Amino acid sequence: MNSTQELLSVIRLKKYFPLPKKSFFQKGRPHLRAVDEITLDVKKGEIFGLVGESGCGKSTFGRTLLQLYSPTSGEVKYFGRSLQEFAPKYARKTTADEGIDLTKLTPKELRLLRKDLQIIFQDPYSSLNPRMTVGQIIAEGAITHKYYKKGSKELQNYVVETMKKCGLQPYMLHRYPHQFSGGQRQRVCIARALAVKPKFIVCDECVSALDVSVQSQILNLLLDLKEQEGLTYLFISHDLSVVRHVSNRIAVMYLGKIVESGNAQDVFENPRHPYTVALISAIPTTEGKKDKILLSGNMPSPVSPPSGCPFHMRCFMAQECCRRIPAPVVEIEKGHFVACHFAEKTTEEKRKIALSKQKVKG
Ligand SMILES: Nc1ncnc2c1ncn2[C@@H]1O[C@H](COP(=O)(O)OP(=O)(O)OP(=O)(O)O)[C@@H](O)[C@H]1O
Ligand SMILES: [Mg+2]
Repeated sequence: MNSTQELLSVIRLKKYFPLPKKSFFQKGRPHLRAVDEITLDVKKGEIFGLVGESGCGKSTFGRTLLQLYSPTSGEVKYFGRSLQEFAPKYARKTTADEGIDLTKLTPKELRLLRKDLQIIFQDPYSSLNPRMTVGQIIAEGAITHKYYKKGSKELQNYVVETMKKCGLQPYMLHRYPHQFSGGQRQRVCIARALAVKPKFIVCDECVSALDVSVQSQILNLLLDLKEQEGLTYLFISHDLSVVRHVSNRIAVMYLGKIVESGNAQDVFENPRHPYTVALISAIPTTEGKKDKILLSGNMPSPVSPPSGCPFHMRCFMAQECCRRIPAPVVEIEKGHFVACHFAEKTTEEKRKIALSKQKVKG
C-alpha cells in the first residue's frame, strides 16, 4: 500500500510526559499528553507545515518523530533507505517497502541514521556552542559521520563549500557564534545541518525569532536548498502566513492532536475545522479589514484533556455530541481530512455562525 513517494509515515504516535503524583493517595501517575495519537505521512521532496498555538505539542511532535524523545507508543516509518544500505552489520529483516521503524532501532543504529534526519531550532544562539568556531561547528557532523578526516584540507574545502551554499563567506570560518547577527547564526545552524547531508529536516520555528526581512531571506535559503539538495522539511510554526508561504501540505494541531490536514491551498481556501476557520480569519491581509473570529478561553490543560472533541470548550459550533464523542476524521475532499462532527458544513456557514455568536456576545 505504501506509495514510493512517502519519506516518513507516522502511525498513532504518542508522547506522554510523566508528572509527579500530587498526593500519596492519588491513583496512577498523571501524564501530560503532549502528542496524542498523531498519524500522518510526509512525502519525499515536500514541505509539510505544522501549525497550532503555543503549547499544543508541535515541538514535542518534531522531536519525538526524530526519536530525540522516546515515544510513549506508535510507529515512525522511514523510507529514505533500507537498513541494509546504511548499516549492513545491523541489518534486520526489513525491505525497502516496509520502511525502517525508527522507534524500534537501537541507539547505535539510530546514531548511524541520524545524519539523514536533522533539526533546526528557533533560537540559533543557544543551540550553537559558544566556544567553537563556526568552521568547527559545521565540520563536527562531517567528522562524526566519517565524511572527512579531522584537520584535512578536504574537510576545510567541504566546510567552506557548505558555508557558501548557506550564504556565509569563507572569512567567517574562524569566527565565533557571538560575532554573528541572528540571521547569520541561523545560516550557521542550517549549514551545520546541511554538512551531514541530510534527507529530512525538522525546521522548528526556525524563523520566528528573526526580523521580517531576515525571515524571508532565511525562508528563501531553505527553499533553494530544498531544491538543490533534494530535501524534505517538516516546517513547524505558529505563524500561519509563513506556513502558507512555504508549505505544500499542512496539518493543524490542537491539544496534541491533528484536527485538520491537507493540501496547503485547500486548507487555507476551504478550512473546515472551526479552529482552522478561526486561525485563518486572524491572518492579517492587505485587502483591508475583515471579520476576525475571536476564540474565547485558552487551550485546556494537556494533563486532563476534555472528553469528546478536544476543541469543544472553545468551539462556536459545539453541540452535545462534541462534549461526549471524539470527532470522526472525515475526508471532505481528496487528501483533506477534518476531525469535526460538522465537517460537512462549509467554511462560510461556520464563519457566519461564529460571527453571529460574537455579535450577540458583543
Ligand atoms: N520535556 C518536557 N517535560 C514535560 N512536559 C513537556 C516537556 N516538553 C514539553 N512539555 C509540555 O508539552 C506540551 C507541548 O509543548 P511543546 O513545546 O511541544 O509545544 P509547542 O506547540 O512547540 O509550543 P510553542 O509554539 O510555544 O513552541 C506543553 O504543555 C509543554 O509544557
Ligand atoms: Mg515549540
